[in-house]
Order: sequence, then C-alpha cells, then structure tokens
Amino acid sequence: MSIVAILGSGVIGLSTAYELLLSQDLCPKELHIIAQHFPGEHPTSHEYTSAWAGAHFRPFPHRPETYESDARESRYTRVTYKWMKDIAARFPESTVRLMQGIDFLEDPPQEYDGDSPGFNSTSLDGFQKLPQAALPRGVRAGFKYNTYCLNAPEYLGFLQDQVKQLCESRGVRLFLRRMTLRSLSQVHDICIGFSVLFNCSGKGLQFDGSYDPMCYAIRGQTLLLNAPQNTKYASLTVTTQDKNGNWTFVIKRPTKDGQNEQYILGGTKQANDNSVIPRDADSRAILKRGRILYPELMKGNEFSVALVNVGFRPARKGGSRVELERSIHGPVIHSYGFGGMGFETSLGVAAHSLRLYREFIGRAKL
Ligand SMILES: Cc1cc2nc3c(=O)[nH]c(=O)nc-3n(C[C@H](O)[C@H](O)[C@H](O)COP(=O)(O)OP(=O)(O)OC[C@H]3O[C@@H](n4cnc5c(N)ncnc54)[C@H](O)[C@@H]3O)c2cc1C
Ligand SMILES: *[C@@H]1O[C@H](CO)[C@@H](O)[C@H](O)[C@H]1NC(C)=O
Ligand SMILES: *[C@@H]1O[C@H](CO)[C@@H](O)[C@H](O)[C@H]1NC(C)=O
Ligand SMILES: *[C@@H]1O[C@H](CO)[C@@H](O)[C@H](O)[C@H]1NC(C)=O
Repeated sequence: MSIVAILGSGVIGLSTAYELLLSQDLCPKELHIIAQHFPGEHPTSHEYTSAWAGAHFRPFPHRPETYESDARESRYTRVTYKWMKDIAARFPESTVRLMQGIDFLEDPPQEYDGDSPGFNSTSLDGFQKLPQAALPRGVRAGFKYNTYCLNAPEYLGFLQDQVKQLCESRGVRLFLRRMTLRSLSQVHDICIGFSVLFNCSGKGLQFDGSYDPMCYAIRGQTLLLNAPQNTKYASLTVTTQDKNGNWTFVIKRPTKDGQNEQYILGGTKQANDNSVIPRDADSRAILKRGRILYPELMKGNEFSVALVNVGFRPARKGGSRVELERSIHGPVIHSYGFGGMGFETSLGVAAHSLRLYREFIGRAKL
C-alpha cells in the first residue's frame, strides 16, 4: 500500500488527488497534500493562481508554431469537458454550469477557419461558424460552441471537499499540510517513504529556490461585476479578440444556489509583468471596451465593479509539462505550466499523470 505526496493545492493538485481517489487501482493508504495555499484562504495570495481564474472553457485551433503542445492540451480539454458535464449534472454545489460559448475575432489568424484541428464540428459539441450577417460590426469571424463556466474559488472548495469525503469513505489517511517547501529533501522529512510525488506547483519557481527557466507569468487583471441577473450572459460566455490584440471576455460566476450571480469582465494578458497592484489604466481600458461590447451588464449607465482581480497565469514556453522523472530522491511526476487553461485542462491532465504513475508501477513490478 502506497503513500502519495502531492505538491500543490491549486486546480491541478486537487484534480490529481480527486482522480487518484476515484481510481480502482491507485488509491493510496496515505495522501499528503503539501501547499503554501489552500482553497478558502483570506486574503487570497496572488501566487495562488487558481483562485483568480474566470473560469470558462474556450477552445482554440492548434497553432502552426505550437502544434504539438496544442494538440496534447486540446485533448486534455476534451477529457475535462466530458467530465465537467457529469459534474454539472451530479453536483450543483460544484458551480459548474453548462452554457453556450461565442468567440468573435476582428482579425482572425488563418487557423480560425472553422475546420482546423481542435476547432471544428467533429471535435466540439454544438460547433458552428457564424454567418457574416450574425457578426457585430468590425468582427470578421465568429464561432459558437457548447461549453461551461464555473466559479473558481467555489469549485476549488468543492474539489477539496470531494477529496476529504473520498478519503473518509475509502479509508485513506489524509494530511493537508500548509507549508512552503524549499527543497525536495523536505518532502522526505514530511512524508516518509513516499511512493510518488506529484509536482503540481503551478509555475517553475519555488521548489529548490530555482526556476524552470521555460516558465513565465502572464498577468491577468479582471473586474468582478455586480450585474443584472437576467441578461443573455446568464447562459452565454463571449470572448472578443480585437484587431489591436486586446481580449474582452465575459464569464459568469455561478453560485451554489443561483442567487446573486456575478460576472467576470476581463481582461489583460501581460507577459512577464509581475505587478500585483491593480492598475487603473487597465481597468479603464477594460470598462471602455465592455461598454461597447457587453452593455447589458451595466447597471443603469455604469458597470458596478465589486472587485479588481490580479492573477498570474503560469505559462511555459513550449507548453505545459506532464512528465515522469526518476529523480535520485524517487519518482516525481511533473504537472505544471498550464498558463491560461488550468481549469479547462485539469481533469485530462490528472488522467495523464495517473497513467504515467500506473506505467511506472507496472515497470517496477517487472
Ligand atoms: C485572470 C485569469 C483568468 C483565467 N481564466 C481561466 C479560464 O477561464 N479557464 C482556465 O482554464 N484557466 C484560467 N486561468 C488559468 C488558471 O487559473 C491556471 O492555469 C491554474 O489556476 C493553474 O493551476 P495550478 O494548480 O497549476 O497552479 P496554482 O493554482 O498556482 O497552484 C499552485 C499550488 O502549488 C503550491 N506551491 C507552489 N510552490 C510551492 C512550494 N514551494 N511550497 C509549497 N507549496 C507550493 C501553491 O501554494 C498552490 O497550492 C486564468 C488565470 C487568470 C490569472
Ligand atoms: C477536427 O479536429 C480534430 C481534433 O480535435 C482533428 O482530428 C480533425 O482532423 C479536425 N478536422 C476535421 C475536419 O474533422
Ligand atoms: C517541481 O516543479 C517545479 C516547477 O514548478 C520545479 O522548479 C521543481 O524543481 C520541481 N520539483 C521537483 C522535485 O522536481
Ligand atoms: C490594448 O489596448 C490598449 C489601449 O486601450 C493599448 O495600449 C494596448 O497596446 C492594446 N494591446 C494589447 C495587446 O494589450
């Protein structure tokens, strides 16, 4: 019987724990989740990216320059989508809500033709290229598909509750350890004799004080809005990419009981910008675009901003890393660098990590 350690309690670490506990063959005797940040902490650290996400599923076609990682990550999103449909049906408290998604592009790259891999009617539910007549002024391409939105902080709490309940029902000893690790050897002290360590630490810094040199942060400033409840955005998430390269999106933040639902209006994508302070200029630019694109969300003639969010998407050059490493300290399964799509890839990523673990055990037995 095994002892499993997971570093990280963001959406990736918790999804890995969740699937591990649901599996028939890999369920451990002890599970240690070691993290500096857990769901529900106040105030929320800017380093805990998961709590700052929108979050919705916004598929995109594979880009020529990053075809391979796009293909892999796209597969994660499809696995996750299937799973999210099931979660939405079974667990209303998860806040996962199925809805329609629309993408509008003023200056679409070539791969946005409606047939390209990862973004076509065979690979997405309800996919449709919108006719020219249905497009707003200035928009040259538009697409519609079935998707979901979730309330990121609430969903993290839901996952953690599931992990606790599954540990109880399956007789697994669970240790949630709030601490900051400085080196790998510390995992050995905390969790003696672990069989595998899942490294779900978000971005490439932290562990031994060094960085994965391929990792970098993409700053995201978004606005949390109080808004009228019965607009079309109650069941629709829209992303507009304008010709200047700006993104303007609206994502519902569903609540457990459906009361007082708020909306995320975003947002910036600022690579290598580490400023945690909300910037007025960013907020003003978002509001200015929002007035034109999504005026239904205004109260009277103004948006009602409840909160300005700043988070950092843990991106990685060449795409995310999901990989087994046989380190001298024992097997480590890396699972980090998911940039702006940690939620929409989460359950597919966890399935991949567990497959790597299963293969490792299989080989060890030979
Ligand atoms: C504005 C914004 C909007 C977004 N919108 C979406 C969206 O619509 N859809 C989507 O899918 N994604 C979205 N994202 C991206 C998503 O939030 C991230 O991809 C995701 O949260 C990454 O999760 P993670 O578990 O890898 O990292 P994190 O959530 O950062 O978790 C890392 C964990 O590791 C722990 N940790 C790290 N180092 C150490 C250490 N040395 N010692 C102890 N603990 C450590 C941390 O405490 C934490 O628990 C958005 C992000 C932002 C900022
Ligand atoms: C659609 O996307 C899938 C991958 O998601 C790909 O295999 C297929 O070739 C694409 N094109 C068509 C026309 O199906
Ligand atoms: C875990 O991943 C981080 C990147 O997030 C890396 O810096 C660290 O060295 C990794 N830890 C181990 C034990 O390999
Ligand atoms: C977005 O718009 C602002 C002006 O509102 C501009 O300064 C900026 O360069 C634009 N592009 C990007 C990629 O942010």
